[in-house]
Amino acid sequence: MRKILVTSALPYANGSIHLGHLVEYIQTDIWVRFQKMQGNLVYYICADDTHGTPIMLMAEQENITPEILVKNIHIEHAKDFEDFHVNFDNFYSTNSSENKELSENIYRALVKNNKIFEKEIEQFYDTDKKMFLPDRFIKGECPKCRAKDQYGDSCESCGATYNPTDLNNPYSVLTGLSPVKKKTKHYFFKLSECSNFLSKWTKLDTLQKEARNKLDEWFKAGLSDWDISRDAPYFGFEIPDAPGKFFYVWLDAPIGYMASFKNFADNNKLSFDDFWKNNSDTELVHFIGKDILYFHALFWPATLEYSGYRKPTKIYAHGFLTVNGEKMSKSRGTFITARSYLDNIKNPNLLRYYYASKLNDSMEDIDLNLQDFSAKVNSDLVGKFINIPSRTSGFISKYFENKLVPIENIEDKKARDLILGIINIKDLVLEHYESRFFSKLIKLLMTQVESLNEFISQKEPWVLAKKEGQHKVNSDLHQICSTCLHAFRLVSIFITPVIPELTSKIALFFNESPYKSFSDIETEANEINKYEHLMQRLDLKDIEAMIVTKK
Ligand code: MSP
Ligand code: ZN
Repeated sequence: MRKILVTSALPYANGSIHLGHLVEYIQTDIWVRFQKMQGNLVYYICADDTHGTPIMLMAEQENITPEILVKNIHIEHAKDFEDFHVNFDNFYSTNSSENKELSENIYRALVKNNKIFEKEIEQFYDTDKKMFLPDRFIKGECPKCRAKDQYGDSCESCGATYNPTDLNNPYSVLTGLSPVKKKTKHYFFKLSECSNFLSKWTKLDTLQKEARNKLDEWFKAGLSDWDISRDAPYFGFEIPDAPGKFFYVWLDAPIGYMASFKNFADNNKLSFDDFWKNNSDTELVHFIGKDILYFHALFWPATLEYSGYRKPTKIYAHGFLTVNGEKMSKSRGTFITARSYLDNIKNPNLLRYYYASKLNDSMEDIDLNLQDFSAKVNSDLVGKFINIPSRTSGFISKYFENKLVPIENIEDKKARDLILGIINIKDLVLEHYESRFFSKLIKLLMTQVESLNEFISQKEPWVLAKKEGQHKVNSDLHQICSTCLHAFRLVSIFITPVIPELTSKIALFFNESPYKSFSDIETEANEINKYEHLMQRLDLKDIEAMIVTKK
């Protein structure tokens, strides 16, 4: 049995969960459910990422404390995840006592290992707000192309990147005043000294090939030391022995993975060290988006290495979601929150299924084309998958008292082969799950579903049902419908990690409890309950209602 600690990136607590986030949480959740169904011991850990300037300012604007703000958002996020059947073992917060203690201890260890130094730097300061301004809170004219109102780190007009101090006529986004340059002491992590360790670590089989290539680019460009401190006022943890200096949010955010697990382990009497120190037989797997690779593949392993902790076994990075081929956008109405999807489309299984049908092991972006989405879920799930019980179960109820013919009594060779064919793809199914090639998995399962539908069309049970004298137990009609339902049940077991809520209803239809293990394919159902419609077609109207465009 494998023992795996799995994480998804910690969502920022300054906004709602949207369909882009859900690519990651659904992908991870499917993988975790798959591992659990294989009998592995898996803990799926997450938390809200609560620190930083944007959250501090947002709370100020809403006239509440940042603590209250992140509590409110936590409730909202937890509900969104629950409603999309994303089943964390622990969903915690980086603003926790566990995280504070772990962050301080890790920092102290880094100091002891001579990996931290102090340096005076010059930064823009808003004299009215009395605070240093992060790059995104300074705007001005691009030093290259002179476009107005560009952010302090890059120009959206010509694509140039630069330092905020390079801007012409800079102004503070907070007050509109022109900021002054001010000196301040910062703490740095000596990442430049870690390149030996990191390039060795990168060679291990920890990253996807594309990610390794990206890292090689970064190594070639040379690693810069990492500024891990921010000046007060800042919502975060104060640095030990450095009054007025706080850990930069990206220092304590990944430590939040540990802290959430610590909280979970303490509550469940598990060993924290088994997963973070003595790691010979445990795995640590991070699912992330490609935008935060730098933090997870460079800063994070280096932080762990020089503070005496284990390093990740795998980092699985995915691409970004586009909607109708473009970046999500509020004005086009394609910036769709989890809640707006649920309010309008209601059925989370549809999105889970669609994402699965698109996902693979690469960092390529994936597109949610709304037309294709509705066509696909209607055709695959309603038109083909659910169609199997809806075309066959009525006869079993009406003529055979809900009883199925046992698989071993099925005589027709073609019918037996259909069932065996599904049992035989088990290894391939597991392989596609393990490698996160969910698109191949869905194709494979849909091929089986299509064969079943063809079988039904050929055998025409409705014609047999009309024939006199055919309604005895084990007749052709009984055999054909039983075959289809046995096969449908097997596909349902295989697809459970993708659409667990739907298959728990299917289990109920077979008078069983929800499928918890792939070994459920070794048993069979011997009866059904009256078929109740399992799923509605998706109406284009609901999609249109979800896309409310803002001018
Ligand atoms: N708080 C950081 C992560 C800290 S992990 C120690 C963060 N938060 S986030 O809310 O911006 O994103 C959370 C995850 O969702 C990230 O892995 C990010 O890549 C992913 N996504 C956010 N928008 C996305 C899309 N549009 N498409 C796909 N994934 C996206 O980053
Ligand atoms: Zn420019």
